[in-house]
Amino acid sequence: MEKTFIMLKPDAVQRNLAGEIIGRLEKKGLKLVAIKMLLLSNTLAERHYEEHLGKSFFQNLVGFITSGPVIAMVWEGENAIQVARRMMGNTDPQKSEPGTIRGDYALFTGNNIVHGSDSSQSAMREIEIFFTPSEIISYRKDLEYWIYGDR
Ligand code: RTP
Ligand code: MG
Repeated sequence: MEKTFIMLKPDAVQRNLAGEIIGRLEKKGLKLVAIKMLLLSNTLAERHYEEHLGKSFFQNLVGFITSGPVIAMVWEGENAIQVARRMMGNTDPQKSEPGTIRGDYALFTGNNIVHGSDSSQSAMREIEIFFTPSEIISYRKDLEYWIYGDR
């Protein structure tokens, strides 16, 4: 089963959108398997966003993501990475479709309220940064027995 790392950025918390975003992922049928609120240190933020090191927006990105509490989560499900990315919408909220999270609730690329892993490699890397294996909970929902049987 695929896991993806989703993080509610400081603007989502500040704007009281945490429940709304978590609710959308839940209602879609993805399964929440880990969650914590934390304030990112510069070191942790730079590690999380290391692929963007040296880009023009890097300082702004790290400054913003460390500006207030974030909610880090692991969600599980079939094709969870791609499903969550589609639900989030385009990186630039002025281009994301209405109906997507960014399309409905954000206006600026630098404040686009949610992060989601973009590949299985980044999902594994990001989950390891934020969670220990024992913080990720393995459990079954009733519906899964109908979909996958008793395995
Ligand atoms: P994320 O990593 O946050 O899920 O977003 P993403 O994959 O859709 O976009 P990515 O290219 O990974 O960029 C990471 C975050 O950096 C900010 N950004 N600013 N040109 C810019 O000013 C610019 N480009 C990207 C955004 O907040 C983006 O989510
Ligand atoms: Mg990204």
